[in-house]
Amino acid sequence: MTTLRCSSCDAVPATGDALACAQCGELLAFVLQTDRFDAHEVEANARVRRASLEPRDRSGVWRFRELLPPVAPEAITTLREGDVPLIDAPRGAAYAGVDGLAYLHLGVNPTASFKDAGMTVAISHARERGARVAVCASTGNTAASMAAYAARAGMAAVVIAPVEAISAAKVAQTLDYGAHVVGVAGDFDDALRAVRALDPATIAVVNSVNPYRIEGQKTAALVLLELRGWIAPDWVVLPGGNLGNASALGKGFREARAIGLTLRTPRLAVVQAAGAAPFARAWRNDAELVPVRAETDATAIRIGAPASWKKARAEVRASGGTVLDVSDAEIAEARAVIGRDGVGCEPASAASLAGLRRLVADGSVARDADVVCVLTGHVLKDTAYAARYHASAASHANAIVRGVELGEYLEALLLTHA
Ligand code: F0G
Repeated sequence: MTTLRCSSCDAVPATGDALACAQCGELLAFVLQTDRFDAHEVEANARVRRASLEPRDRSGVWRFRELLPPVAPEAITTLREGDVPLIDAPRGAAYAGVDGLAYLHLGVNPTASFKDAGMTVAISHARERGARVAVCASTGNTAASMAAYAARAGMAAVVIAPVEAISAAKVAQTLDYGAHVVGVAGDFDDALRAVRALDPATIAVVNSVNPYRIEGQKTAALVLLELRGWIAPDWVVLPGGNLGNASALGKGFREARAIGLTLRTPRLAVVQAAGAAPFARAWRNDAELVPVRAETDATAIRIGAPASWKKARAEVRASGGTVLDVSDAEIAEARAVIGRDGVGCEPASAASLAGLRRLVADGSVARDADVVCVLTGHVLKDTAYAARYHASAASHANAIVRGVELGEYLEALLLTHA
């Protein structure tokens, strides 16, 4: 019920492992025959499976397995990914200037980022076809996710990454899962170029240029709708780097509407870091994307030549959405605000709230709009960043208290919390 096609010229690839169209070089994508589904059946299956004891039923990805490329049950490699919470965010709402706001927290996944939803599908497929080695370029989260799922699948994992320029916590996590971490000079874009040149027939390349990743990640849209009784919000705001996730969420919402699971799709707002914002610039100029040399403290999205920009543009356009960029200072402040709701995320994720604040300020998003910000990674993914922030003079910094008399300190605190 789903076929692999070129996302641009519609050609059918000769092999199921290809990452690019042999005719025109563009990325491949699965096309789901949405008219073959009954919305009530999809919804009922998901509901029954949520209460099941079988691991693949409990997964927020595999409980929608009919909407995914078929994988033999014995190849499915799952860690109960995708079953994430939607958390309301009163402080975040006040900060952004909207009446109500919720976070879809994809950092609450087995390896603490949204990558797991895509990785379970990519690695399960690679396992089914007998791949022995998985490879990715990464700014850290794809690395950790691939490493974990490859470990479960009994495959070797090789990460190509600018290790000095990404979060040490992510590198350590990846080493824990047993991956080979190959540090390279240059940046993520250089690493991805090297990985895309590999032969996908012998090596499973699991970056988001792999269409199986997109299929897994699209289920975040289904889980979000499921958590809201199949009623879409007005806006979904998410960070953009390589732009696989914007492509995936857009696809998920579109398919959900085509099947009849929901009546409408949300507008997508994709937010980039100002120093890594080639997509935001292309959007503003209504022009082709021109790669940049990326620089931002939100190292997860330090990406200058996003591979999936055309897919993402199509999804943002189809949704009636927008693309923008925010400064590193705005990201830092928004991240601290997210923490005050007791949630917490890594810097790249906070681009969503910073972007929403901008969109409300310029009138693009109404104050009474129904908005969901997508948090892509957990706060513990980059504790060095958080520690630096709180030791700084930034407006929401929360400095460690030293050299006080505890009794007096608590007494003063009681007065201010009367
Ligand atoms: N947020 C986080 C926490 C990320 O790790 C990434 C990408 C993004 C947002 C952007 O998502 O690339 O689909 O637009 N991280 C990749 C990695 C590049 O290697 O972990 P995107």
